[in-house]
Amino acid sequence: MTTHQLSPADTRTPGQLIDQRGRAELEFVVSLRMGMGAALRGRVRHRIEESGLLPESATDIEALRATVDPVVTVDPAYRFHAASLRWSREISTPRGVEAFDRRRDRLEPLATPSAPVADHTGGELPRYWGYEFHTTEGGWDGHDHMGFVHHEMVYQYLLTKIYGNGGDIFALRRAFADRAPEDHYDQIVDLGCGTGQYTLKLAEAYPRARITALDLSVSELSYAKRRAEDAGLAIEFRRAAAEATGLDDESADLVTSYILLHEMPPHAIAKVFAEAFRLLRPGGHVHFGDVGAYATRSAYDAWNDDWDAEHGNEPWWRLAATTDIAEIARDAGFVDVERYELLPGGHPMGTTARKPEVSS
Ligand SMILES: C[S@@+](CC[C@H](N)C(=O)[O-])C[C@H]1O[C@@H](n2cnc3c(N)ncnc32)[C@H](O)[C@@H]1O
Repeated sequence: MTTHQLSPADTRTPGQLIDQRGRAELEFVVSLRMGMGAALRGRVRHRIEESGLLPESATDIEALRATVDPVVTVDPAYRFHAASLRWSREISTPRGVEAFDRRRDRLEPLATPSAPVADHTGGELPRYWGYEFHTTEGGWDGHDHMGFVHHEMVYQYLLTKIYGNGGDIFALRRAFADRAPEDHYDQIVDLGCGTGQYTLKLAEAYPRARITALDLSVSELSYAKRRAEDAGLAIEFRRAAAEATGLDDESADLVTSYILLHEMPPHAIAKVFAEAFRLLRPGGHVHFGDVGAYATRSAYDAWNDDWDAEHGNEPWWRLAATTDIAEIARDAGFVDVERYELLPGGHPMGTTARKPEVSS
């Protein structure tokens, strides 16, 4: 396996990576989701809002689902929408994987870092991590270049079109990085870095900080490292669990993550806060961005999030959106715990807290 530097001629411009068959398949999914899918979703929303069944707030999501679901499931538009959404999610990654494999000779050199990422897991992977999140066949490492496939194919060809409004789909990550409590950090740890979407924004926001980024997925980490190398950034990547990083006590002044916590059950979230507390110097901060709490969202948005999580293989989303994350932070020893919406009514919801100074 070889790696080579990008030349201006082989930048990752959409159109150069995917063959015509792959483009046609992914574009079909985009048109299904944006055209008919958006119209059907609008019709379902209208039906729910017109029903008069939505409560003021979504404090009891099970009761909300039990009230609203029977109203929509009788509608053929809803059933078609649910089936087509599920189908489009199920086929997206396999189509990306097949498109990669058809051009493996050309793409593998663009996907591979200069050296493998060091493994600090000791061979122990949490059981929940192996789940096929987001209907990704085989889970996060279901293909040796799943990171590249996610980042350059699924994100660039699908998600930027569906969610990106033609702009930078990762811009919110930069805005979130900017909301960390201090203006400068020396040592940042990014937990669950994936392909580095947030990590690279942290590097932009805190150019003088040393950054360590970790994840459990070999394929996501490999491509994160490659992206950092291409950007000329000296970021340390390591394969490790967020709840057992193997990093030194009191070695960081910011421990942060973006959309990691809803990928894990609450007992693991508690371990992540405990690990962050261990890693931080006194006075250091955690700054975690994740899904909005149902209780602070409109009842329709909470219903829609919960429905989407169910139909998109997000087994822990509901728990993350209903668990008292602030209490978990306080139980771990943090003070000044603050939860806030980065954008009113939207995702992500931030949790920021401080490790107290040692009292003499
Ligand atoms: C939704 S992605 C988020 C990636 C990235 N932070 C971003 O900004 O898009 C979640 C990542 O968390 C990783 N992950 C899940 N559980 C983990 C754990 N216990 N320890 C480390 N990484 C984990 C997954 O492998 C995946 O790459």
